[in-house]
Amino acid sequence: MDKIFLHDVLAGLNASPKTLPCKYFYDRRGSELFEKICACDDYYVTRTEMALLQEIAPQLGALLDANTALIEPGAGGLKKVSILLQAAKQLPLYAPLDISGDFLHEAAANIARHFPNLQTQAIVGDFTKQIDIDALLLAYPHITHRLIFFPGSTFGNFDPIQGQEFLQNMRHLIGNKGGMIIGVDAVKPVHILERAYDDSEGVTAAFNKNLLKRINDELGGDFNLSNFKHRAVFNQQHSRIEMHLDSMQAQNVPIGEQTIAFDAGESIHTENSYKYDVPHFTNIAGQAGFTIKQYWQDSKQYFTIFHLMV
Ligand code: AVJ
Repeated sequence: MDKIFLHDVLAGLNASPKTLPCKYFYDRRGSELFEKICACDDYYVTRTEMALLQEIAPQLGALLDANTALIEPGAGGLKKVSILLQAAKQLPLYAPLDISGDFLHEAAANIARHFPNLQTQAIVGDFTKQIDIDALLLAYPHITHRLIFFPGSTFGNFDPIQGQEFLQNMRHLIGNKGGMIIGVDAVKPVHILERAYDDSEGVTAAFNKNLLKRINDELGGDFNLSNFKHRAVFNQQHSRIEMHLDSMQAQNVPIGEQTIAFDAGESIHTENSYKYDVPHFTNIAGQAGFTIKQYWQDSKQYFTIFHLMV
């Protein structure tokens, strides 16, 4: 049993209002469901960013010259970074960065297999803290610039304060020269946002509820999944999509030794996904010590890819 998972779950469910950390969505089943979300017609995010990346690939490729290391925090999927790597003919080094060594070495090995001429250097580190890679890069004296790639609107899961801290950590990691390519989801009409997080196929609802199933399976919980309803709502004041699981009746739910009481209609707040217009994001990036070199948007202005410079 994962004690930290149990601790986080009980802390969240004993708080008021009740919350659960969104990082726990991604067990095996959750990751599969997230892949399915990305393929949903209603979820414009992945499709839009991928098309935009393809469109600007030559410009991104030009940034990845023989003196630059490409660093990817979170070491995500192969798909997005491959667009950059295909456009980068002379890039000397790809460095995925993740807190989990397993994930990381898998990501590095995957890239190495697809791009045999590219060196890879896994960096184990927590991007919520300051990371120093000067020592790691001593072996590559010709590398003068560090470019960080952070796609997927993962930035949207941070609240604005955490987001600024994350950017400050990235600013520190870059050092003197380099920048960042970051994908950020834009503010758009509410019905489009809410549909994207409550898709007509019910995949996002299943993704949200999978968190309760995970608690049942791994922590001895006894949630009846049909007693909870998925809800996605855009909070205008905070410019964020919120996902909730609403208790459809008053009920007591045992989790291990504890019992959590729910009122009828009481919610568990499971995720925030912040949406930024260009001025708002520019301001946060500025506070963290970056200037906007350039940004690109799709024709509907649903999604923005920023090139930040130190
Ligand atoms: C992985 C954080 C980018 O906020 O759009 C998708 C997660 N949650 N549908 C997002 C998510 C529900 C996603 N991010």
